[in-house]
Amino acid sequence: MGNMMLAAMFMLYLGPRIASPKAWSASSETTLRQAAEAHHIIIGTAAASRLLEEPEYSAILASEFSQLQAENEMKFGAIHPRPDTDPEPYDFKGGDALVAFAQTHNMVVRGHTLVWHNNLPGWLKNGGFTRRQQARILRRHIHRVMMHYASQVYAWDVVNEAFNDNGSMRSTIWYDKPGIGAGQGTKYIEQVFRWAHDADPNAKLFYNDYDAEEINQKSDAIYEMAKDFKKRGVPLDGIGFQTHISLNFDDPRKLASYAKNLERFSKLGLELHMTELDIRLSDSRDESLAAQAKLYGKITTICVEQPPCKVLQTWGFTDRHSWIPQFYKGMGWALLWDSDYRKKPAYEAMRSALEK
Ligand code: G3I
Repeated sequence: MGNMMLAAMFMLYLGPRIASPKAWSASSETTLRQAAEAHHIIIGTAAASRLLEEPEYSAILASEFSQLQAENEMKFGAIHPRPDTDPEPYDFKGGDALVAFAQTHNMVVRGHTLVWHNNLPGWLKNGGFTRRQQARILRRHIHRVMMHYASQVYAWDVVNEAFNDNGSMRSTIWYDKPGIGAGQGTKYIEQVFRWAHDADPNAKLFYNDYDAEEINQKSDAIYEMAKDFKKRGVPLDGIGFQTHISLNFDDPRKLASYAKNLERFSKLGLELHMTELDIRLSDSRDESLAAQAKLYGKITTICVEQPPCKVLQTWGFTDRHSWIPQFYKGMGWALLWDSDYRKKPAYEAMRSALEK
């Protein structure tokens, strides 16, 4: 931050003699967001409002990324912690702080997520509601949250992770436990996309999932749903491919399958976002970091080579604050900056893939 302020003061002092905007940035090196501009790709990251107080965190977030997305603060449990009988069931504090930060720094905001089986508040999980009551709760939730962020959040992960790996429907509180009474198969997903479109007709509406990068049973099921929705005019704008991967993804067959998969979705006229990219490692040896960098470069290239791939987003940006060690014991080091906010080889690899 200090450097940026000094640079800004220097700029004021020199005034019009500085022609290029590059000359007054804190560092003369191209940032990720600058490198991505030529391809019209938005570079995003998941973020948390409590971390904005860390100077390195907010400086990197503001300068390197053109988009942020709340890692947790717009999820049902965080944003709607109290039942609708409460005078104020919602808590927009964390989400609002992130939106304000983004606006100050000329970044766009992606919303995550309206319908998911995870992060549900106790009052909902244990409420013993009927299908009808749950449908009403969910419709009102979608309306309230989307209207609160209308014109501030340009795209939403409306539904997250609704399929099992074998392509069947995941059994969840929204589908069948007890569900919202919309019917079998993807009917409930269709219903919530329609509610979302009513709530904010200007927002882009996404279906988001993991392990659907390659052509497999899960991505086939998502593809069939997307094809059906497009044919029948259900308001679906795009698919989010989470891309939580490890080094074993660096396999020509897997990489080619990812590219082919994106291509078939793009032919449906859908926008494609890589939404939660990270590449977990089991150690931080130089060789591992180099292999990780290579794979970051290849994934970036897949997005660059597929024009409907408009967003490349990592799930956080510093190993200091990543979900991986908590969820995969013994693993970590998955992101672009290390835990002391130093750029890793993966950062350089992503940037150079964007500069091609
Ligand atoms: O905020 C509470 C805190 O008050 C409490 O003291 C603490 C004790 O464990 O928990 C805190 O909440 C944690 C929250 O992250 C915020 O740090 C939850 O336990 C923890 O389960 C939650 O994990 C998040 C996870 O989704 C589940 O919601 C991860 O941070 C987040 O990275 C992860 O993100 C998901 C995407 O939403 C969907 N795709 C997969 C991705 C990775 O799992």
